[in-house]
Amino acid sequence: MEDTSFAKVDPALKHGEYEWQDPKSEDEVVNIVYVTKDGKKHPVKGKVGDNALYLAHRYGIEMEGACEASLACTTCHVYVNDKFLDQLPPSEEKEDDLLDMAPFLKENSRLGCQITLTKDLEGMELQLPKATRNFYVDGHKPTPH
Ligand code: FES
Repeated sequence: MEDTSFAKVDPALKHGEYEWQDPKSEDEVVNIVYVTKDGKKHPVKGKVGDNALYLAHRYGIEMEGACEASLACTTCHVYVNDKFLDQLPPSEEKEDDLLDMAPFLKENSRLGCQITLTKDLEGMELQLPKATRNFYVDGHKPTPH
C-alpha cells in the first residue's frame, strides 16, 4: 500500500515542488512552538498531518533537514518538551541509531522530520539543539523556501 505521509515523502521531492496547504478549518489547526538556538520562541500554526521539519521551513525556522526527511542524517534533531514526548509514536530503530550519533543528545531528543502533527500535540514545544552535525552530505545545505 502506498504510504502518503509526509514523513515518508519521496526524498527526491524538493519542498519547492511540494504544495503547501494552510489549515482549512480550526479543527485541523495544531499550534506548536519552535524554540531556536538563541532561546527565542516562535509560535506557529500547523495542521494535522504536517511534518515538523517542513513546517519549520515554511516559517523560516533553521531546522536543517539535510537528507530531506529520508531518515539518513541528524540535522533535524530537536528536543520535545516532556509533556509531549509520550504523545509521539515510539521512535523506530533507525531513528534511535541516528540519534546516537547526534551531538548534544538528550533523553527527549527526536528527529523533527519523523514528527507528524496530531491534535494531541497542540502546544508542543520543539527546541533546536546548539548544533547539529551533517554527516550525510558534506556541505550540502538545503535552501530554505
Ligand atoms: S532530515 Fe535527515 S533525518 Fe530528518
